[in-house]
Amino acid sequence: MNLCIIGTGYVGLVTGTIFSHLGYNVVCVDRDAKKIDGLKQGVMPIYEEGLKELVDANVAAGRLTFSIDLVSSVRESDIVFICVGTPPGKDGAPEMKYVRAVAEEIAQGLNDYKIVVNKSTVPVGTGELVRSIIQENLTQPVAFDVVSNPEFLREGTAIYDTLNPDRVVIGAVNREVGEKVASLYQTLTDTVQITDIASAELIKYASNSFLATKISFMNAVSALCELTGADVEQVREGVGQDKRIGSAFLNAGLGFGGSCFPKDCLGLLHTAKRYDYDFHLMDSVLRVNEEQPLRFLARLREVLGGFEGKRIGVWGLAFKPNTDDIRDGKAFEIMAALIKEGAEVLAYDPIAIDNSRKEQPAATYVDTALDACKDVDALILVTEWREFKEADFEEVRKSMRLPVLFDGRNIFNPKEMRDKGFLYYSIGRADA
Ligand SMILES: NC(=O)c1ccc[n+]([C@@H]2O[C@H](COP(=O)([O-])OP(=O)(O)OC[C@H]3O[C@@H](n4cnc5c(N)ncnc54)[C@H](O)[C@@H]3O)[C@@H](O)[C@H]2O)c1
Repeated sequence: MNLCIIGTGYVGLVTGTIFSHLGYNVVCVDRDAKKIDGLKQGVMPIYEEGLKELVDANVAAGRLTFSIDLVSSVRESDIVFICVGTPPGKDGAPEMKYVRAVAEEIAQGLNDYKIVVNKSTVPVGTGELVRSIIQENLTQPVAFDVVSNPEFLREGTAIYDTLNPDRVVIGAVNREVGEKVASLYQTLTDTVQITDIASAELIKYASNSFLATKISFMNAVSALCELTGADVEQVREGVGQDKRIGSAFLNAGLGFGGSCFPKDCLGLLHTAKRYDYDFHLMDSVLRVNEEQPLRFLARLREVLGGFEGKRIGVWGLAFKPNTDDIRDGKAFEIMAALIKEGAEVLAYDPIAIDNSRKEQPAATYVDTALDACKDVDALILVTEWREFKEADFEEVRKSMRLPVLFDGRNIFNPKEMRDKGFLYYSIGRADA
């Protein structure tokens, strides 16, 4: 079976690589010639643990190739996957121009029956949109089907997630078409849900928005903990032990970022508006998420007596550990506020520094975690990389001008940090 994957980002490159690992012939297509040239030479455009080794092995086995030629790649394939970005547009609605452009081009490559699978996260109705764009742009009269197959991988564990999916969701016009796509996953899981296209499209938004809701709920509880003297970590444990709730996604912190949760909450809200439903729950989820770093900054401002002339270290720029993705990362909101109010920012991340320089050129990027502590008035932990958990805090404290540590992810034990001489602040737990 020949597969064509369009878009070699976090989703497309990982999906294509895993399909080739499963034995299919895969061509990964991107319009970014630099990315494709790099991939042909073994240079990964993204950081994902284990990806390079798998890409190299499958390229060597002759099952994985890269191309900028979408039309001829489609021509030689049986199933075509759309994996391009759908970032939020100005009004919060997902930007559909990449999906539209790809659908137009796919039409030109349709020389016999093929299935076009949409893996990008897209609003309800996109299956029909893609079908009609392809239909209007066909260069010869051929049959085709459009399927929705939303992706649930997490950056940082994308290879593992793709090899071990909780479930595969396939939205198709009929069972036969759904089962053809389902057969691609047969060695990975028995949990395949075949639905209509609209339900599959909505399952993705509902899943991400629900996870974001859990996070915002716990962050709102953390605000209440700070006011009442309760400890959010103890509350989290007690709440999470209820099997009906579950312990995942209950960590209080600076809020959710990344290229998916904020965008998908906005996308769900936008769909609701289109159908005149007031989904005000999602408004609140996003509002709590915006307030969380502001409350954190307010406490830091109070402790330092303002940011003017202060030197502040930031640990972690990626939106979460084990990725180089900085899209919608909380570090950038925090650094922008500090810099605007006159602070000098020393920033460090194990992987995401190159991406960060373009996003916030006014920060000083340093080479080691310890360099970000040199003569600082405070250190802020934004991303919970393992390197930070294992840091030598004796050295860290000695490097700092003032031993003020703000932990935005509650990864340290408050008592231990105080015993090490820090003025330690975290989220929803008793202050120093
Ligand atoms: N990143 C995640 O963790 C994740 C998880 C699940 C679902 N998703 C969804 O999957 C989709 C892709 O996300 P991503 O993070 O992989 O995006 P990305 O930005 O990393 O990659 C998208 C790629 O598509 C390419 N592209 C754009 N237009 C093209 C065109 N006309 N022809 C060929 N290539 C084109 C871009 O050059 C880019 O390389 C989005 O809808 C996203 O919401 C992402």
